[in-house]
Amino acid sequence: MSVPSHAIAHLLSTVAGSHRIGIGCMALTGLYGRIAESDARDVLDRAMDLDFRLFDTAPLYTDGQNEELIGDVIGSKAGITVSTKFGLSEDNCGKLVRDSRPSSIRASVEASLRRLRRERIDILIQHRPDPDVNDQEVAGTVQDLIDAGKVASFGLSGTSVNRIKPMSERCSVTVVQNELSVLSDPNSWCTPQKVGDMGVFFMAYAPFARGLLSQKKAGTNRAADDYRAQMKAFQNPEQSAHKRLRECIEDVASAYGVSATAVMLAWAKSRGENVVPIPGPRHKSHLANLIETTNLEIQDAQILTIDEIASNLQVG
Ligand SMILES: NC(=O)c1ccc[n+]([C@@H]2O[C@H](COP(=O)([O-])OP(=O)(O)OC[C@H]3O[C@@H](n4cnc5c(N)ncnc54)[C@H](OP(=O)(O)O)[C@@H]3O)[C@@H](O)[C@H]2O)c1
Repeated sequence: MSVPSHAIAHLLSTVAGSHRIGIGCMALTGLYGRIAESDARDVLDRAMDLDFRLFDTAPLYTDGQNEELIGDVIGSKAGITVSTKFGLSEDNCGKLVRDSRPSSIRASVEASLRRLRRERIDILIQHRPDPDVNDQEVAGTVQDLIDAGKVASFGLSGTSVNRIKPMSERCSVTVVQNELSVLSDPNSWCTPQKVGDMGVFFMAYAPFARGLLSQKKAGTNRAADDYRAQMKAFQNPEQSAHKRLRECIEDVASAYGVSATAVMLAWAKSRGENVVPIPGPRHKSHLANLIETTNLEIQDAQILTIDEIASNLQVG
């Protein structure tokens, strides 16, 4: 059943503010290379001044330090929504481990509440499905946490669309957080439209393809502590196809007198009225580009041109 558009619009304006953009905080504690703590704090303070109201973090990001930063700068400020996650951590060898056992979810939530300095987690997202734990058990555990007042709403990340309905029978899934950029597969198993038809809002992560399309630095020029230096797509960002796509985005941007990042955010929003992009600004100057998108309506023909070029590329 389709949810009326005014219901989604109301939900989005309450949660995501006037820009309908959230702030992804992952790189503010160093995942994409060192960042001074004062700069990270400036990004968060300035974002709140500019009426950004949704901030995304996770225990995985720098082993809890990211949540601590959010707790320190944002804490329990009224009118701000914080999303965090459970179910994914790094072992001593840097390998990602999935764990959504009920006791682990409960322990993760208690630790997040402490670090975030909040009494309740606004949006709690399962970071990745856990093949060893039944989805119903995960949803039931989150529902218990909602009943106990520790969590307000439930979301899924890195998910397929077919898990939403069965899990919602135990605990209503209101958010999906999946990757969405011009490089994403348009025939993906979990499009904004598919989840929007179920009344679920879509937090689009990495809308600039992790910076691949917003700058020209090669992987080899990246600092050793920038996680992206290891990513295949970053080894040769000047490969002709990516370059063509970036040039097309820049052409559209100059036609409107805005930045390429504003065009990519407008593109993401054009995928559905339930989409909230969550880019990862690393400097307060980045925030100005993000608000350029607020009233930007790009013509369908220009979106189609971007789509056509992107469809000839491999996913980054
Ligand atoms: N649920 C999940 O599994 C998952 C996975 C990944 C991310 N996320 C969430 O999504 C958020 C965003 O992800 P992301 O940071 O990887 O992706 P992104 O927003 O696509 O890329 C961020 C990069 O784009 C560049 N950039 C950001 N704002 C810019 C601006 N206004 N102008 C020019 N360049 C700009 C910066 O690159 P330079 O550093 O090169 O300048 C920045 O590091 C994360 O913070 C996290 O909250 C969730």
